[in-house]
Amino acid sequence: MSLPFRHLTSASQLTPEVVQAIFRVADDMATIRKTQGRSRILADRVVALLFYEPSSRTMLSFQAAASRLGAGMIVAQGKEMSSMKKGESIEDTIRMVMGYADLIVMRHPESGAAERAASVSAVPFINAGDGGNEHPTQALLDLYTIWKEKGRLSNLHVAFACDPLHSRTIRSLARSLSHYPGNRFTFISPPSLRASPALLAELRGKGVVCTESSSLSDGTNADILYMNRLQEERFTDPGEFQRLRKEFILTAPMLSEKNVTIMDPLPRIDEIDPSVDALPNARYFAQAHNGIPIRMALLAMMLGKA
Ligand code: NCD
Repeated sequence: MSLPFRHLTSASQLTPEVVQAIFRVADDMATIRKTQGRSRILADRVVALLFYEPSSRTMLSFQAAASRLGAGMIVAQGKEMSSMKKGESIEDTIRMVMGYADLIVMRHPESGAAERAASVSAVPFINAGDGGNEHPTQALLDLYTIWKEKGRLSNLHVAFACDPLHSRTIRSLARSLSHYPGNRFTFISPPSLRASPALLAELRGKGVVCTESSSLSDGTNADILYMNRLQEERFTDPGEFQRLRKEFILTAPMLSEKNVTIMDPLPRIDEIDPSVDALPNARYFAQAHNGIPIRMALLAMMLGKA
């Protein structure tokens, strides 16, 4: 199946048909990785990676995925990047870079930056995170992880903690899971970090039962407990971040006799005690590794090579 979109900016584009098609290619990519290490299907392509906001996993895994398919890469990283520093618009940067590369991956601190970039891009564009808004490729690898762990993407109870207000990974995963029947969500947070009423209304409008809680114990009987650090960079009051940062910490004793799968897009700050790492249901590092076949698949498909 060829993808029904040219640019990927939002998890709302990840319909079940699209997700299954990407998973099929991702499984092939995982095999390529295991058996040959790499292929050359993108040897005649150049991928641009523009990371205006810090990133480790997303940046490295896009680089690793592109390398494993033989693509050339041009990389620009940091807030101090000349175009941003000199006040160039996102649109003008994209107009320039699309003459240098065949596909653009961009992370940007502003919500809505991905839509603006995609609207002028003549080459396929992938949103690698735009402010507190969306992170659709993280949602894809999260879905792939859930699929591998649970064998289904429907009829799941998914608990999201700790910062549903600011977390783009929570927003994107919740949006993509809302395309499947029978899912219900529990959003766990301090009262000041609750999911936005607009997101809750959107999810409920799609038939998802959403409840809110301020206790982590409401997530330990779910099918999936999706943790994400407090998004310090999106707090307007640094004092509030300091007050709340140790409020929710998942520990091994809280999970004794529990089957819940623990996920986290990482980086982990305080939200998961290292005692949890040894439990068989702690899947956050496997989750990060799933980013490679997923991003290989996405690059190949968006460049018309798979
Ligand atoms: C996430 C992000 O950047 O939104 N990280 C990632 O891409 N794996 C989560 C986070 O930074 O907390």
